Amino acid sequence: SQGKWWGDDCLRHVDGFWLLPQFVEPIDRVIKHFRPLPSDIILASLPKTGTTWLKSLLFAIVHRSSKHRLAMKNPHELVPTLEVQVYTASDEPLTTNPCSTHRIFSTHIPYQLLAETLDSSDCRIVYVTRNPKDTLVSTWHFVNKWKKAEKEPWPLEVAADKFCDGLIPCGPYYDHVMGYKKLSWEKPNKLFFITYEELMSDPISHVKKLAEFLGCPFEGDDEEGQIEEVVKCCSFRVLSEHEVNKSEESPAWFQLPYNSFFRKGAVGDHKNYLSDEIIEHIDALTIEKFHSVGFMYGV
Ligand code: A3P
Repeated sequence: SQGKWWGDDCLRHVDGFWLLPQFVEPIDRVIKHFRPLPSDIILASLPKTGTTWLKSLLFAIVHRSSKHRLAMKNPHELVPTLEVQVYTASDEPLTTNPCSTHRIFSTHIPYQLLAETLDSSDCRIVYVTRNPKDTLVSTWHFVNKWKKAEKEPWPLEVAADKFCDGLIPCGPYYDHVMGYKKLSWEKPNKLFFITYEELMSDPISHVKKLAEFLGCPFEGDDEEGQIEEVVKCCSFRVLSEHEVNKSEESPAWFQLPYNSFFRKGAVGDHKNYLSDEIIEHIDALTIEKFHSVGFMYGV
């Protein structure tokens, strides 16, 4: 059922990945029926790694003159997720934004499952990831909101064990990240790989690069000013203050309210939650899964 989506009994193991049961069929439909146009932009990510932030940035970069819409609509309404809002109920897509030059979609589907679809066109892919410890803590908070109706909160130690065993929606975390990371090594013109931490530490230069990658560079005398405006309107501080994003209302396609996508928006929050032992364990796993294959990230 939708309400109880955590635990081995809730996630389904499909082709090496753990999927939420309600998305198994929509994911299959996306894989079978979605044909990206060469002008499409696909944002790929794991949940809780910065999807909402990147949705707002992609929207603001591509639809520069309409970025004020971010004050009225939640980023997830402006950039729909393929398996959650587009291929939900039938093989025909619900949303296609046909008027726009660039359609922007997002997905949590691992590259290993979506490779044929994504390789079948010259669409551009943006992948965002976040260090595993902050991803775990953000996921833990999110699941606890989900579980609010249940009496027992979800213990952090249990969440950490599950995370390390790969048991998060669309996990294992490490396989998901490496699927897209390898593609970025093979085809840097097709996939723009960015981390939450890079974006936080130097948003201006990364937003500039992102816009160039998307074929929508900032131009003119006031290039820097335009980028600053985009960065500001997509910042946690500004976005999370909009009434629509403070709303307790849940969208039709999701069980939690719009405000559940905004919590703290910081780098390193895991230090406030995880024990030294859990940190050591995750760091060792990160070294084994990332560093050993040349991706020096996450510790
Ligand atoms: P925290 O729980 O650490 O605060 P996703 O969008 O992939 O579900 O990720 C949600 C995480 O991104 C949450 O992290 C949320 O607060 C943070 N977030 C949402 N909007 C953001 C923004 N504009 N800038 C930075 N972080 C943001």
